Amino acid sequence: MNSQDIFILAIESSCDDTSAAVMCNDKVLSNVVANQAIHEAYGGVVPELASRAHQQNIVPVVHQALAKANIDKNQLSAIAFTRGPGLMGSLLVGTSFAKSLSLGLNIPLIEVNHMQAHILAHFINEENTAKPEFPFLAVTISGGHTQIVKVDDHFNMEIIGETLDDAVGEAFDKSAKILGLPYPGGPLIDRNAALGNPKAFEFPIPKVRGLNFSFSGFKTSVLYFVEKALKEDPDFIEKHMNDICASVQDTIVRILMQKIKKAVKETGIRTVAIGGGVSANSGIRKALEDAEKDWGWKTFIPKFEYTTDNAAMIGIVGYLKYLEKDFTDETISAKARFAL
Ligand code: KG4
Ligand code: ZN
Repeated sequence: MNSQDIFILAIESSCDDTSAAVMCNDKVLSNVVANQAIHEAYGGVVPELASRAHQQNIVPVVHQALAKANIDKNQLSAIAFTRGPGLMGSLLVGTSFAKSLSLGLNIPLIEVNHMQAHILAHFINEENTAKPEFPFLAVTISGGHTQIVKVDDHFNMEIIGETLDDAVGEAFDKSAKILGLPYPGGPLIDRNAALGNPKAFEFPIPKVRGLNFSFSGFKTSVLYFVEKALKEDPDFIEKHMNDICASVQDTIVRILMQKIKKAVKETGIRTVAIGGGVSANSGIRKALEDAEKDWGWKTFIPKFEYTTDNAAMIGIVGYLKYLEKDFTDETISAKARFAL
């Protein structure tokens, strides 16, 4: 520790995870995440329950983050928080908490865009982890997002493709629900897919112009396929679970790779950095590894704890903005829709 070190407390509460992190410059000292199991029973996030759970979790989560980092709140240089995009009720909890704490401690407040944070998570300083060089293509794939972003530098980025309806994580989770798997089903599809034949069943690849995605038609095609098959054989799902999961995953990965490949071709940028919960998927990881070998791309996948919703990614943006003295004041409010 030296006197020039910058300590930032970061807070994330945009959806259903309450998270707090303490950064020392670009290094993570702690990154605490409280998941909200309450939504499992409903098969998706219930906004009102999410905001109540954030209210219960935020104080202990911040407390733990400071304790784990072994930092006293009076040592903090600034507070960074997720301003948006996200669920309004959830964002308000983190925003109000961050504003009050920065006022109480009389230290700067830094607003962070959640989508920018998913991308800049690649700049967290981790041993044995390289950072992508500019320009690169960031692909954010999760339960709430599906975007391809051209990143020219830390604060200059442009969305060049995004989903017109469901996010890719929803395509995984809704397909899983149709198969009777619990929420969130993405990881279970991945696990079953490893034991199945990806070419067993065929689902259509949606035709969407440009670099955009659409997953709602895909989800419907899985539903119709399963309904039809169940009429002929009530045990169809049980008998073919692994093959259905492998075929669903293979199709989703092909939909993603088709557009990523197109983005690489159109921009001439061959560095691809992915983020978001779906980047844990073994199918997409394998496809990117193949792209490195076969086409000479450079691909980056952050450590899993920095790729799902977490406060360390808010903290790295907080640090980069702190260096620019890009602060905000206490009149700021949460923003559910917040462009990059
Ligand atoms: O980033 P995240 O934790 O939360 C947000 O949605 O922002 O992402 C969660 C999503 C869920 O849809 C979950 O099913 C999916 O990521 N997911 C996966 C895998 N692990 C998580 N989808 C497919 N394969 C996986 N291994
Ligand atoms: Zn997210």
